[in-house]
Amino acid sequence: MKIIIAKNYEEMSQKAAEIFEDAIQKNPKIVLGLATGSTPVGMYEHLAEAHAKRGLDFSGVQSFNLDEYVSLAPEHPQSYHYFMNENLFSKVNIQKENTHFPAYNEEKPEESGARYDEAIEEAGGIDLQVLGIGQNGHIAFNEPAEQLSVATGLVTLTQSTIAANSRFFDRVEDVPKQAISSGMGTILKARKIVILASGADKKDAVAKLLDGTKVTTQWPVTLTLLHPDVTLIVDEAAAGK
Ligand code: PGA
Repeated sequence: MKIIIAKNYEEMSQKAAEIFEDAIQKNPKIVLGLATGSTPVGMYEHLAEAHAKRGLDFSGVQSFNLDEYVSLAPEHPQSYHYFMNENLFSKVNIQKENTHFPAYNEEKPEESGARYDEAIEEAGGIDLQVLGIGQNGHIAFNEPAEQLSVATGLVTLTQSTIAANSRFFDRVEDVPKQAISSGMGTILKARKIVILASGADKKDAVAKLLDGTKVTTQWPVTLTLLHPDVTLIVDEAAAGK
């Protein structure tokens, strides 16, 4: 794991954006794995700027998002469809049909997300994946547990994640309790992974990565220690410095 310690959120975001800009330039048909949450917002801003100022071309780029809430329509302001549109897609020339999210299957909830992993494979696999980390060490919505799912599917959020995400909603009761999440296998199949973390509330999860000696399903992000090409970009607060 390559570790970059940035001064602050802005520097973390800039360094992450540089990696993405470079990768898109080298491979205009790149398949990106994208994340939501506060963490990647600054990186998306830099990428939108790279499009506006330097013509960074997204017309051949495909994207697969890590997760989506159950029970929120794509137009809902807290849905991840809406988030991606607001923060990136509407600001660059990505083709809407090239952007993908795992979908909830109302008739057969247990089959939700079933075709997602195949769709990723058919697109040639994810070349570059960005990940945020939950305070509890989750990645996507793979919450700490005795067992973690390999494939994409329906998941139930933990209380701590519901509490953390309630800052985006009027009331904690409004936070969906379930989501469709990329599985751990889906994430770890990406050719290259960039993990971002900013702020002291990510310190415990980041410490497990900086220690680097053990993996545990109780801190799902530690499974990325087994991946051959991970860059961890954290600011000083998240690094516990
Ligand atoms: P955050 O969430 O970027 O909003 O801190 C990260 C996550 O829960 O994966």
